[in-house]
Amino acid sequence: MKVLIACEYSGRVRRAFRDLGHDAWSCDLLPSDDDSPHHIQGDALGLLGSGWDLMIAHPPCTYLALSGVRWLHTRPERWAKLNAGAAFFRALWNAPIPRVCIENPIPHKYAREKIGVAYAQKIQPYHFGHLESKATCLWLRGLPLLEAATNYKAQTLARPKKDAHRTHYASPGANRWKIRSETYEGIARAMANQWGADYAPPASIPGDGFNNRRQFAQTRFRFGS
Ligand SMILES: C[S@@+](CC[C@H](N)C(=O)[O-])C[C@H]1O[C@@H](n2cnc3c(N)ncnc32)[C@H](O)[C@@H]1O
Repeated sequence: MKVLIACEYSGRVRRAFRDLGHDAWSCDLLPSDDDSPHHIQGDALGLLGSGWDLMIAHPPCTYLALSGVRWLHTRPERWAKLNAGAAFFRALWNAPIPRVCIENPIPHKYAREKIGVAYAQKIQPYHFGHLESKATCLWLRGLPLLEAATNYKAQTLARPKKDAHRTHYASPGANRWKIRSETYEGIARAMANQWGADYAPPASIPGDGFNNRRQFAQTRFRFGS
């Protein structure tokens, strides 16, 4: 499959798809953290019409996220930035690509109105092999819900808050926003394993077993069944 990972500098989701044999590319205004030749530095909007089978996008959430809604009332200049953020989100959602996932934190009510599409599901890192909590929403078009691989909720919530909510408690500094925005490895692997599953991978799959599709299918379970 030809896969675009829009707004990704870390390469996490791109690598998960490439490990399964997909022609996956990341794109961000920033250079990639891993200096990959499969990263395009530039505006993702310019790439949307290039014949992708699937796009996973991580657009900026600063002005859309519920956690920042209070600032709208004290910093009126943020309304214009909210409008721009929602317009970017909608442009990604309306891309001429048959399968689209947009990932973002829980949006506030103004963002929800301006985006105009409801998210399909809310996921947590502890559903995908991590002992951490960070609610993340997925807007899905042409894709099934992402199935949980683990349920480490109890173990996660038993940890000290600074560990269970590591990204929330990240120390102030130049890299704080990066620590908070990088996609979790387990979520990236689940996206590739499940949404790339109708694609026949090459006979030998590089990796440590966690990205092996068959092994993953044997260990994952469905909530509520
Ligand atoms: C919340 S971060 C997502 C990071 C991602 N989860 C990762 O692991 O790399 C949002 C990213 O969107 C990028 N971005 C903003 N506008 C963009 C655009 N027009 N085209 C491509 N990337 C853009 C930013 O540079 C930033 O890296």
